[in-house]
Order: sequence, then structure tokens, then C-alpha cells
Amino acid sequence: MRSAKDFFRPLAVGAPTPPTEIPARPSRAIHFFDPSNPKMAAKVPDMVGSVDVLLGNLEDAVKADNKVAAREGLVEIGQNTEGLGGPEAQTQLWTRINALDSPWALDDLTTLIPAIGHTLDVVMVPKVQGAEDIHYVDRLLAQLEAKAGLDRPILVHAILETARGVANIEEICGASPRMQGLSLGPADLAADRRMKTTRVGGGHPGYLVRQDPASSSEADINASRSVFQQDLWHYTIARMVDACAMHGIYPYYGPFGDIADVVACEDQFRNAFLLGCVGTWSLHPKQIAIAKKVFSPSVEDVAHARRVVAAMSALGGDGTGAVMLDGKMEDDASLKQCLVMVELAERLAA
Ligand code: GLV
Ligand code: MG
Repeated sequence: MRSAKDFFRPLAVGAPTPPTEIPARPSRAIHFFDPSNPKMAAKVPDMVGSVDVLLGNLEDAVKADNKVAAREGLVEIGQNTEGLGGPEAQTQLWTRINALDSPWALDDLTTLIPAIGHTLDVVMVPKVQGAEDIHYVDRLLAQLEAKAGLDRPILVHAILETARGVANIEEICGASPRMQGLSLGPADLAADRRMKTTRVGGGHPGYLVRQDPASSSEADINASRSVFQQDLWHYTIARMVDACAMHGIYPYYGPFGDIADVVACEDQFRNAFLLGCVGTWSLHPKQIAIAKKVFSPSVEDVAHARRVVAAMSALGGDGTGAVMLDGKMEDDASLKQCLVMVELAERLAA
């Protein structure tokens, strides 16, 4: 059977060539705003410089009646906001277009690219099911970029929010050199998997492991025992991290809907960071600070990483051999982990 890959052709003449290596720009917090909401849109200029990414959301959470207003609002912001979007900007401009099976996705792209293609850095595509969805967006972007005379390719980010998308994760990550990264879409994914939850991201008090009883007596079974809440998203995030690492693109957590629960939000973000994610979504300004803190390595971790790098360099710098530091064995494998930490700290400081 022919796969969607067989229909993938080289880029159209005149279109900019996507990079083989995606530039590692900081994107710890991808802050969502609704461009059809004048109050939210008015705040955008003041946020430039204080957040890594501002994302104009056109999809879910924007009412059908407001789809055109959201698109037009984003054009206005992309054309008139100083310092937002483009290769040199401190704050990137992203958009989340509507799903490819909706009546709006084509108009989203054909409106945005000619109008703000020069400032738009990344197009986030929701509900991606397989490589064919990325190929479709890739081909359309190539045409629109060539027509608009853009000299820089717009990158593509896929939201993983269907069971089929999870099953096809590797082919999605490798579907185009435009692929910048993947986000977890926990709310849609939960619905698609028929999970019995009603939340946007985060844990669930019912998803737990209980300590064994001391014996099988009724008294011990009913006695109070420690309970440990488990992470509903561990499996999916771990798959995302591996698939992204294999293809040299970036994994992100996604939305955490309980805005008031800043503690659980920080925990979820930190688990994702420790597993390998580079950032997350922010649905409220207070989540920006949490994301920036969590997705930047701590001063203590960087200091320790530098000590390991120095100790291993003193051995000759070729990675062979081992040293003892604070009673712990360090070798090439721990050196490599420490270099990840140091490089991230340097990139964020640049
Ligand atoms: C995000 O789009 C989600 O469905 O969680
Ligand atoms: Mg969704």
C-alpha cells in the first residue's frame, strides 16, 4: 500500500528551504492569547520581551463566530507589534491554526502567511493524526511562502492529542524538515482515548498506588496506608521525548487547566522538564513565571554540572576514565548529562 510519504515531493521552486537543524530558541513558556478578545490582544505589546513565545490561538476556545475576528486580530498584532516574531526577536510569534478537518484551517493559512509570514515563526497544528497532515501543511506553506517572497521557512509544531497521533508519533516527528516540536494535548487526548477524566492536563486523585497491607487480615486491609498519586501523562510524555530526540526536534508539556493550583502546575511542568521537555504552554500570565523557572536549570544544578565537566576535562578531555566527586562516580555518561545542563544554561543566558 502506498503511504502518504510517497506523495511527498521536494519543495516548490522559490520557496525557502527548511533548516536541517532547528534553531534552539528559548521557548520555555508558549503563552496563549485569543486575538479576537480585545482585552487580551491589548496586553500583547506589553508582554513582548518578558515571555519566550506569544501564540495567537485560533482553534478551540475561540467561538465559531469569532474565527474571522481572531484571524484578523492576529494579523493586526503580527503587523504592528514591535519586537514580536521574526529571527531576531526576543519573543517569538506562533499561532495555533484550526484543525485540518475544520472549515477554517485553509483560510487561516492563506490569510496569515501573506499578511504576517515575515513575523510568524511557528504554526502549531492541532489533532495531528499522521505524517499526511504534516505533509499537507508543509506543501501549503511552501506555496504560500514562495508566493509571498519569504526568505525564511515557517516551522511546524504538532499537538499530540489523538490515539492515532500517538501511534504515529515517529513518522509525525520526521515528516518534514519544518518540524520544530510536539506538544501534549492532554484534554483532547483523554477524550480520544476514552479516559474517564474531566480535566485539562495534570493528575487525578483516583489514579494512585496504595501501599500493600501488612497482612491479608480485614483489619490490616482497612487500616490507613500510604497512597501515592501517579502521573497520568508519564507514558505519553516519555514517548514524545524519545521521538523528538530521535528526530532532533523539541518536546513540550502542553496546557495545565487548573490555573489556581500553581503547586500542581509546577510539579507537572517539572516532571516534564526532568524527562526532557524544553517548555510548556501558559494559559494565564502566572503560569509564565512558573514555566520560566521550571524550564531553566537551577543555579545549583548548573554549578554541579560545571564541576563534573571540569573534573572530567582534567582527566584529558576525551571522555574516557572516571572521577569521584562528593562520593559519587562520574564518567562520560554523567559528563554528557552535565553538558546538556550547561549548554541549556548558556543558551538561555545568551
Ligand atoms: C489541548 O489542545 C488539549 O486538547 O489538551
Ligand atoms: Mg486540544
